Amino acid sequence: MEKISVGLLGFGTVGTGVIHLLTNEQNKFQQQTGSKVEIQKILVKDREKNRKINEYDHLLTLDPSEILENPEIDIVIEVMGGIQEARQYIHTALKNKKHVITANKDLMAIHGSELLQAASDQGCDLYYEASVGGGIPILRSLTDGLAADRIKKIIGIVNGTTNYILSKMSHQSVNYEKVLQEAQSLGFAEADPTSDVEGLDAARKMVILSHLAYSIPVTLEDVVVEGITRVAEEDILYSKKLGYTIKLVGIAEVEDDEIDIRVGPTLLPTGHPLASVDNEYNAIYVYGQSVGETMFYGPGAGELPTAIAIVSDLISVVKNIKHGTSGHHIFLPNQEKKCKLVEDIEGQYFMRLHVKDQPGALSKITGLFNEQEISLQKIIQEPLLSEKLAEVAIITHTTKQHQFEQIYQLLKDLEVVRDVKSYYRVEGMN
Ligand code: NAP
Ligand code: HSE
Repeated sequence: MEKISVGLLGFGTVGTGVIHLLTNEQNKFQQQTGSKVEIQKILVKDREKNRKINEYDHLLTLDPSEILENPEIDIVIEVMGGIQEARQYIHTALKNKKHVITANKDLMAIHGSELLQAASDQGCDLYYEASVGGGIPILRSLTDGLAADRIKKIIGIVNGTTNYILSKMSHQSVNYEKVLQEAQSLGFAEADPTSDVEGLDAARKMVILSHLAYSIPVTLEDVVVEGITRVAEEDILYSKKLGYTIKLVGIAEVEDDEIDIRVGPTLLPTGHPLASVDNEYNAIYVYGQSVGETMFYGPGAGELPTAIAIVSDLISVVKNIKHGTSGHHIFLPNQEKKCKLVEDIEGQYFMRLHVKDQPGALSKITGLFNEQEISLQKIIQEPLLSEKLAEVAIITHTTKQHQFEQIYQLLKDLEVVRDVKSYYRVEGMN
């Protein structure tokens, strides 16, 4: 095939990056595949919009059938986002024997299995490297580079927006709304950033990673999710004093064939390899039984990093067409799903409380932990200047989740405790 024809669904941040690379790196593409790539049509919502690149205005269309039903188009790149329309368009493209590349984690986390099955049935490719970790080739690393290993644990900083916000909050005093706006204008945050800050975007990415790493068909409902909206400056401050950094991480861990999958603000020791991952950067720490610790680091979002993942997928798809191996790289989860029971989940916890600044208050609190057989690893207390209160921050040793939930209730009712301000999971060094 001398020429590969591509239809693009979407011409926003990522679509612009794809066009930029395909225009400026045509030689590289040709070297890799032996083919020239040609953009045939670009689907947009608003034809009149002012765009960063305008040499392609003549290719813009509002009619998806000009791409999906176009017999000249070989490959469809979906970078429009959203779920139902994108799902329908991809199904139509596959039905018409077009290979598909998508960056859409929302779609792949929810309807990935159905779409991958449809691609397999049609003998078509469906690649989605850009859906997790932007420019980090993590999906390939799991399905190829680490294919022989038994993955035990993944810890991922997989949302650039929240990492950007928490990094700024940690390094300087900032206004949350202003930093979120910055992340939006830099192109990391979703059009509606709720899914970023509420942890849903990270949860979707952890579902995709778990499918590939463990072949377990987890769904979003299996993920315990919390976002960053209740992380206060004081949480960051006291975490630092205790030697930790707060990050929004996703953790997917398999033990005795049971999976525990969660997303939430988590304290990492400052020496942990993930603790120094700042701004919009992502990192995915993967622990394999044989390989041990590995970490994949890079820009997790943005125009060109995300476009690199898409154009690399495009190169793979073209190579598959040439080798007659299209549709051979579909990976569907095939293991039984067993989720870890809440009573079996263990971890360390951070807790921050406001307590009455009076003799014996601290011993009442530590006594309660002692009664509940939860051992404390670190504790600090500092006076709160404005009221007759003290701020107490605690890190526990490993405890059962249900025991911790119990002590949380008991502390709230303790006479010397004014308020339990926050609590988060703590991830250790192992
Ligand atoms: P975006 O900037 O909002 O661009 C979306 C594009 O799709 C726009 O060109 C828009 O048209 C078009 N579009 C949206 N809905 C449409 C519809 N119903 N019909 C026709 N055109 C439609 O989004 P983005 O940031 O590029 O993200 C695209 C996808 O990549 C999303 O799935 C996102 O989650 C994923 N992703 C993004 C990043 C990132 O860093 N931004 C990273 C990884 C993955 P108009 O231009 O006319 O409005
Ligand atoms: N909104 C996403 C993020 C874009 O902030 O990580 C990349 O998927």
